[in-house]
Order: sequence, then structure tokens, then C-alpha cells
Amino acid sequence: MARAYIDTIGMYVPPGVVTNQDLEKLMDTSNEWILERSGIQERHHVDGESTTEIGLKAAEAALAKAGMTADDVEYIIFSTIANDYLVPGGGAIMTKHLGIPGTPALDIRMACSGYLYGLQVAKALIESEAYNNILLITAEVQSVALDMTTAGRDTAVLFGDGAAATILKSTDEDRGVLTVVTHSDGRYAEDLMLRSPSTHDKPFLSYENVDKGHGRPVMNGRNVFKHAITKFPAVIMEALEAANIEKKDVKLVVPHQANLRITEAVAQRLELEPYKVVYSNIHKYGNTTSASIPIALYEAMAEGKVNRGDIVVVAAFGAGFTWGASVIRW
Ligand code: ACO
Repeated sequence: MARAYIDTIGMYVPPGVVTNQDLEKLMDTSNEWILERSGIQERHHVDGESTTEIGLKAAEAALAKAGMTADDVEYIIFSTIANDYLVPGGGAIMTKHLGIPGTPALDIRMACSGYLYGLQVAKALIESEAYNNILLITAEVQSVALDMTTAGRDTAVLFGDGAAATILKSTDEDRGVLTVVTHSDGRYAEDLMLRSPSTHDKPFLSYENVDKGHGRPVMNGRNVFKHAITKFPAVIMEALEAANIEKKDVKLVVPHQANLRITEAVAQRLELEPYKVVYSNIHKYGNTTSASIPIALYEAMAEGKVNRGDIVVVAAFGAGFTWGASVIRW
């Protein structure tokens, strides 16, 4: 049976670094508040680059590392909450950037869980033997939508820009993406949302709604936190059970980098040792939504924390609400 495995990951973050001290100059916040509540020290913000443009940089890095050219790519999955345009999606635009018109491209907009949904689709497409390789691009330009004043401080300090590209390939060996489980619950849509433009409104896009702040993300942070710390451990255990893998055999958990406090709470509830088994790099990038897991995987690999044969669990929770986990034999 064909299995899907992660062959290569490439990443790109824009060069512009925004530290907590930089934010202190823009809004009523402090380095201490941000560090204590989230573990974030700095994040990267674009300077004019769009989501597909940073996605392209990550894709080029991954292709070069894999020794592939764009012409070798059979299928693109593009995950973002921050598309260049509302229509069309970024997947089709990536075929233009990569110079591969005609390549199928699917858009995923499952927020922080986008990587999990992307893995799920890639696994199905490869295991069905419809495709031999998939380029899964996760790219997020979020800084442009943030309110960088005190009014937006609860979200502005958390999110960053960044991109990753994961090349999944087919193998006959007993390795790769063993299981992916995903969930969603739209009852909590308004707990983390960007309201406008919206088909609830006529006209769809208006100055009035922009003035009301509907073009900015809004978040009920406490409710997100409460759900995240219960859903993360539950879905990780569900994925391990589905893969018939015991918790003790897990080498590394790479959670979506939402917030260090969430990561620590998940490690504690799973009775895992933080910083040893649970990977975190949120201090450098903030929350890069669907790009955060592959960026973290990339860095964990570079640090020698992920090696061939290791059991690695990736998991996410985010807007929607959506959540999921995957067990991978590297
Ligand atoms: N700097 C200083 N003060 C701030 C800031 C800021 N950046 N943001 C909010 N505050 C203030 C609030 O206005 C509030 O002031 P008040 O008491 O005068 O009203 C005070 O700090 C405390 O606010 P709380 O909301 O009670 O703070 P809390 O301890 O809950 O921490 C946080 C807020 C960090 C957002 C927390 O709720 C959290 O971690 N939630 C999870 C959110 C998250 O991770 N979202 C990421 C996206 S979803 C995902 O990826 C899973």
C-alpha cells in the first residue's frame, strides 16, 4: 500500500523583525505582559510582500532542498487565512508564480488547523495513488490586518507572518503519515474571527464596517485558551489511538505555536516533559497560524530533534473552532 511521507520542508519568514520593545512604542503593552502571557519575544512582519509571494519563497526553498524543480510538482495544496485576494484563492496563483500552469491546486482555509487538514488531503491523494507528490504550502501574512494600536493589542502582539512548504511523497515503506484526525465546531466561529467583508452585509464591503473595526481580527482569548487546552490533549490521544501508538513511544510533539502557555498546559495534561518532548519556537515567530507547525518541524529537524524512524505527533487548534492531530513515523 502506498503511504505518504514528509520528504522535505522549506521555510521563509520576512526579514522585518518586530520585537516586544517595538510594540511598546506603538501601543499600551509591555515586554513583560507579552512574555508572561504568550512566551513571544519577537515576530516577523512583511514589508509589502503578499501571502503567495512569501509562500513562493518557502516553496522554492523546499524544492531546492528536495532536488526538484517546479515541473516535478503534481498537486498543490495551499493553506492560509490571509489570501492575496478573496477570489481567487492562493493555490491557483501559486501555479503562476511557480510557472506550472495547469497543475491542480486546492485551497484550505482552516486557520491554525490548516496544516492538519492539508496533511489529511495529501495523505488521501497519495494513498489512493492518484498522485505521487504534493506540495503543501502554508503561508500567512497577518500583520497587515492587525490593529497596531492599543485597541488591537490583544491580537496584535500574538500574530506574525511566515510561510512553509512541505513536500509529501509516496513510499511503499512502513513510514510516513500514519493517521490524521480533524474536527471543527462552528458554534464558536465568533470567538476568533475577521468579520468583514461578509455576505451578512449589503453592501458586502463598506466604509461603515471598516470604521467599526470589522476588517480586524477579534478574539475571545479566554474562551480560545479554555478550549485549546482541552482539545489539544484529547485530539492527540485520539490520533495515537487511531495509529495504535503508545504515548511513551512518541519522540516529539510539535503543536501549533499559538501561545507558550497553551503548549505548557498541553504538555502538563499529557504528562509530557515540556521543552524535551514538546517543541516550541514561538519566542521567535509568534503565532504564524497554519505555517507554525511546519516552521517548527523544520527547525526541530535542523536541531537534530527529528530523525528517521521517530514517532512525531503534530497537533493544532484554532479559529472555527477547528482542531486536529497527526501521528507520523519519520
Ligand atoms: N498588553 C497589555 N495588556 C493587555 C494586552 C497587551 N497586549 N492585551 C490585553 N491586555 C489587557 C486586557 O485589556 C485586560 O485588561 P483589563 O483587565 O483592564 O480589562 C488584561 O490585559 C487581562 O486580559 P485577559 O484577557 O484577562 O488576559 P489573559 O490572562 O486571559 O491573557 C491572552 C490574554 C494571552 C490572549 C489569553 O487569553 C490567551 O492566551 N488566549 C489564547 C489566545 C490565543 O492563543 N490565540 C491565538 C490564536 S488561536 C490559536 O492559535 C489557538
